[in-house]
Amino acid sequence: MSHMEEPDEVVVVTGAGGMGEAIARRLGNGRRLVLADYSRDRLDQVVAALRETGYSAKGVLTDVSDRSSVEELARVARREGRIVSIVHTAGVSAATATTEAILKVDLVGTAHVIDVFETVAARGTSLVCVASMAGHHASLSTEDEHALATAPAEDLLSLDAVKSIGDGISAYIVAKRANQVRVQAAALAWNRRGARLNTISPGVIATPMAAAEAEAATGEHMTAMVHACGIGRSGTPGEIAEAAAFLAGPDSRYITGTDLLVDGGQAAWIRHHRPTG
Ligand SMILES: NC(=O)c1ccc[n+]([C@@H]2O[C@H](COP(=O)([O-])OP(=O)(O)OC[C@H]3O[C@@H](n4cnc5c(N)ncnc54)[C@H](O)[C@@H]3O)[C@@H](O)[C@H]2O)c1
Repeated sequence: MSHMEEPDEVVVVTGAGGMGEAIARRLGNGRRLVLADYSRDRLDQVVAALRETGYSAKGVLTDVSDRSSVEELARVARREGRIVSIVHTAGVSAATATTEAILKVDLVGTAHVIDVFETVAARGTSLVCVASMAGHHASLSTEDEHALATAPAEDLLSLDAVKSIGDGISAYIVAKRANQVRVQAAALAWNRRGARLNTISPGVIATPMAAAEAEAATGEHMTAMVHACGIGRSGTPGEIAEAAAFLAGPDSRYITGTDLLVDGGQAAWIRHHRPTG
């Protein structure tokens, strides 16, 4: 509590990676930051860097693929004050993670964040989940999308659309599409609490994750795409933080259950201009 006896405003950021840190800095001024990551080293390092630069920040070791761990994070955040925004950036990708890990973290972990934070969402709370441009490339049936959007988190891994996945890149695409459609489906429950949730779908953003992807087999393809689509560069974590600030703030009060693509035109190029064959 501040001296005014008003509860402090709390911002929760999952993932203390490239985007998570930039988002914490953009949203954390004058508020209490609660950062969550499953890497103790990364968490300690980012919390220390934030404190050194004047932020009030606390780290909570969290594995988003474990529901009870997310519940504990929500409890800690709630004790800190009034949760005004949650930005979920914790995630893994094909260059460094197995297919199973991608499904557990990116698919099921995001479902946990949506479910658990719904229980502590109040009037004005905004949740932003970072999905990916990759989600825009999924070609799932309407039935599969509906199942991914609405199945209980614990059933997600047994859905047909998930059991048939054979490699990490497909797992990532399906998980990120699932993030987009789960946010759509959850808008009703969040609206009933006066709260909102959306996804941001970044294109290639210069973070440790993108660096690892660039080193991997698909890396060359990724670099070629940012040039072919005309933008000629990667995005910065700060550009994702600006989009998150918009979706977390009062100027987007009528925006919920939708996706904001922040990709410099990459998905549009793939859909309409990528040479075929
Ligand atoms: N960088 C890109 O080009 C790009 C593009 C599209 C989407 N994304 C998405 O953006 C989000 C943020 O990625 P980033 O680029 O900041 O990556 P990053 O690797 O810099 O950060 C991700 C962080 O999440 C943490 N994390 C991973 N699994 C976790 C778990 N189970 N529980 C808690 N923390 C966990 C990692 O330790 C890491 O600190 C991810 O969801 C990613 O899929 C990234």
